[in-house]
Amino acid sequence: MPELKNQPILVIGAGIMGAGIAQVAAQSGHQVFLFDQKEGAASQALDKMRLTFTSLIKKEKITQEQADQTLSRIQVITILKQATEVKLVLEAIIENLAIKRTLFAQLETIVSSSCILASNTSSLSITAIANGLSHPERLVGMHFFNPVPLMKLVEVISGLQTSKETSDTIFNLSTAWNKTPVHAKSTPGFIVNRIARPFYAEALAMLQEQTSSIEVIDACIKSVGFKMGPFELMDLIGHDTNFAVTSSVYEAFFYDSRFRPSIVQKELVDGGLLGRKTGKGFYDYSENSPKAILPTLEIEPVNKTINLVLHGKGILIEHFATQLKSQGLGFQRQENSSWIGLDINGHQLHQTNGMTASSLGSTFAVFDICLLPNHQPFIAWAISEEASEEWKKSAPNWLANLGLKPLQIKDTPGLIVGRTIAMLINEACDAVTQGVCSKEATNQGMKLGVSYPVGPFEWLDQLGKVTVAQILNQLDDYYRGERYRVSPLLKKSNL
Ligand code: NAI
Repeated sequence: MPELKNQPILVIGAGIMGAGIAQVAAQSGHQVFLFDQKEGAASQALDKMRLTFTSLIKKEKITQEQADQTLSRIQVITILKQATEVKLVLEAIIENLAIKRTLFAQLETIVSSSCILASNTSSLSITAIANGLSHPERLVGMHFFNPVPLMKLVEVISGLQTSKETSDTIFNLSTAWNKTPVHAKSTPGFIVNRIARPFYAEALAMLQEQTSSIEVIDACIKSVGFKMGPFELMDLIGHDTNFAVTSSVYEAFFYDSRFRPSIVQKELVDGGLLGRKTGKGFYDYSENSPKAILPTLEIEPVNKTINLVLHGKGILIEHFATQLKSQGLGFQRQENSSWIGLDINGHQLHQTNGMTASSLGSTFAVFDICLLPNHQPFIAWAISEEASEEWKKSAPNWLANLGLKPLQIKDTPGLIVGRTIAMLINEACDAVTQGVCSKEATNQGMKLGVSYPVGPFEWLDQLGKVTVAQILNQLDDYYRGERYRVSPLLKKSNL
């Protein structure tokens, strides 16, 4: 395989992704041939790049010289044969298997047999694209994220016939382009688009079941460090796009219920309520639309003579201890308890382990997973159906006195954050079990590809596999079916 440093490159498709890839390659010193079958599309992409550079020069992000050099390295071509000498072809055309196959077959008659062929496909199988090629070992996935110049992640996808040399060469090239590459096996959704599915799916399921409102679910999810809540993010991505990706992953996994699309989202797609781009999705983006206000609780002082016992250990319990001390409240500790939370004179505030408050008993209230030290104050909580009126009033007041902003939701397993994060971890564990990617690649992928605050395996380290498996088992027990089955990796004693 050729060393690709400073070698000429052909980019096919001058749309959103192709233009970005051409820019990054040229900025990294390559001569780039840019081809698009639509007349004028490649030149238009170049004009747009020129405009972007003008604004970047004004903001002093790049110099005029750098802009000129980059643009001078990109040459628009109108027939592919003008690029016979390239050592890498990067394809970013329409997402259609038959059209991509035809293009690569044509390319084999144009470029040398050692030229690497890379596809930026976001959902098609690399193995399938390579089917029929004379040299399938040099076809690889090079999956960039949008916008290409800004997003660091590149998933390097190996199909069944991709040679290690090919994927290693593309991995190294990505690093040379100042990207962070991760290796992945060609499976539906690769790493990021697969593991992210539960982020949307669980939120949609909660909404469908009227567990809570979009505002409360978004607020609770953002409290653990996500930049956007699932409903805000789906509105931004566009429901047509998000629904199409989910549907394609669902179909590709032979209708595994874990990936099942939601009728709640389909209804929005059918109604043309696609999110920000149409002005309305889950949220209304019109100027004068009323903004929902989250309920706030007036904190009331608590009885200082009451019996308090802190159960369990760890950062959350230390935080609770500090809060109680700061209010002059005495308490005992049971560090080796089987649960985490606070016992208030025989009433228990229990961090979720998946069991509902109602299944625990009338003296219980459960609160969501709290990921300190960076947890923002909103926290979902639920109370037993059999609880006394007094406990219904005092449970949220205790949470508020422990420094949290409680938002009551329906009593369901894993509440909001516990359920979502357990399912993200579970999907990541399955991907690793199936050899799709390593744990490190998963963490990198989710942080850089979709801006998760930490990677799934970092959450797992924080929560422990017992808690995660308990939440999943409770969800499985509550809903039945395959969706919440626990990944084999979580059942292993040594992860
Ligand atoms: P786009 O629609 O913006 O651009 C595609 C370009 O390819 C168009 O200019 C079109 O004229 C050209 N084209 C279509 N068929 C062609 C052919 N046979 N030969 C030459 N040119 C052809 O699409 P976009 O968004 O840039 O996507 C391109 C590829 O990148 C797709 O495979 C997509 O799945 C993938 N991708 C897209 C991402 C996104 O956020 N838009 C993210 C990651 C991957």
